[in-house]
Amino acid sequence: MKSMDVRSDGTEPKEQPQPVVAACQVADLGIAPHQCVAPQPLDPCTIVIFGASGDLAARKLIPALFNLYRNGGLPDPFRIVGCARTAMDHEEFRAKLKEHLALDEPSEHSQWDDFVSLLHYQSVDYGDITSFVKLAGYLKTLDGERKTGGNRIFYLAIPPMLYEAVARHLGEAGMAGEKQDGSGWSRLVVEKPFGRDLATAIALDRSLREYFEERQIYRIDHYLAKETVQNILIFRFANSIFEPIWNRRYIKSVSITAAETLGVENRAGYYDEAGVLRDMFQNHMMQLLALTAMEAPPRFETEWVRDEKAKVFRALRPFPVDTIYDHLVSGQYGPGTINGKQVPGYREEPGVRSDSLTPTFASMRVFVDNWRWQGVPFFLTSGKRLAEKLSEISIQFREVPHSIFRSVFGEEIRENRLTLGIYPEEKISLTFQTKNPGAMLRLRPVTMDFRYRQSYSGPALDAYEKVLLDAIRRDQMLFLRQDAVELALAFPKSEWTIRASHYRLL
Ligand code: BG6
Repeated sequence: MKSMDVRSDGTEPKEQPQPVVAACQVADLGIAPHQCVAPQPLDPCTIVIFGASGDLAARKLIPALFNLYRNGGLPDPFRIVGCARTAMDHEEFRAKLKEHLALDEPSEHSQWDDFVSLLHYQSVDYGDITSFVKLAGYLKTLDGERKTGGNRIFYLAIPPMLYEAVARHLGEAGMAGEKQDGSGWSRLVVEKPFGRDLATAIALDRSLREYFEERQIYRIDHYLAKETVQNILIFRFANSIFEPIWNRRYIKSVSITAAETLGVENRAGYYDEAGVLRDMFQNHMMQLLALTAMEAPPRFETEWVRDEKAKVFRALRPFPVDTIYDHLVSGQYGPGTINGKQVPGYREEPGVRSDSLTPTFASMRVFVDNWRWQGVPFFLTSGKRLAEKLSEISIQFREVPHSIFRSVFGEEIRENRLTLGIYPEEKISLTFQTKNPGAMLRLRPVTMDFRYRQSYSGPALDAYEKVLLDAIRRDQMLFLRQDAVELALAFPKSEWTIRASHYRLL
């Protein structure tokens, strides 16, 4: 990052000084840690995880549920039913899940021993309705025994090609309807991709909607559940000092970055079809853009917030086809070295075609065509196997309109910058100029830093904990509404024909 220091003769010093960092005072709200997880009481319920023998369930979902359990964030009674094709009994299922958890303390082992009593397993054949009828019977029996009230969350941790069949079978076996025949509420949680393109997204939605209403469908974007991402709206709309300058008059550009060091790992089958544009841009990057650019809704209510985000997507300027290279560059990672270890290029990764043209990196310049943002470029950049893992939103303000210090410092006074750090540092940093103490008049750039976890000792929810908790609480604010999915897929009009722009690297 460039330093903001300028010497009095107008030239830049060779050694760029690091901005001085000023700490923040954080108020103690006096809220007990357990109150930070979830307001109780929550409706009793059962969560049914399809794909329970897979990676997502073992690495993310079960650890998230276990953490919520430990922090008193689950309803009581509560049950987890794992479903997959593999034949297993409850004990085998429980033992398999334990292998994935890093339990250190003896107290954690004993908490796990209590938690496993909530875990059940039922094998299913996703293509066979009788499996689902059997599952419906099993859930009813559990409801009777455990008093879970007939309330169910169905979490689809399965390959997307199975979504339609599972949703249909749930419907046909009577598990989608609410308040019927002794049942309580019913919710369906789905992971991306929500379609390959606009047409398939609409088709998928149509089939989910045969049995489930929009209010029952929870489309996950785990970025929205990150604490610092949720904080964007609080930062913008619970303070009066930023909003007046949050526009084209004061902001020169916005950069949104999600860089990763990981490669495609073991997901080539999915990733080679999706590429970075579908994997990161049409969901996470677009959501970060929407939160940064949207107007304040009249109230902080789910549909109103989602309406404002959708308006941002509607205002995106389509890329001009003939000058697309001025707006978008993309590329693919080659072989290299990480921490002294040789790593393969994308085309040498297991499962990737040796002539694959799938981009693993993209950087685009996007404009939001409305009064607030006219002419302000938003630079969106994401890629795999980059030098560091970094996710942040950086607001670059304009230069001072007129420098009264011209005769002292020369022409340039570097602009202010506000950084909303998402990873690795969860922080808000504001950089501005001050006078360097001492007789010589010199500028000193200062960064005022607020670390998100500073002076907070309560439990922190990770993204999956938050997503699961919100699904239990019937809060759809952090989930994608179908219109946003379609608008993001429709941008830029050419259905991501930007595949044509491969290998124009920055
Ligand atoms: C997922 C993508 O949605 O987000 C992955 O499918 C990517 O390819 C991941 O690695 C990045 O998430 P995070 O939270 O690590 O930034």
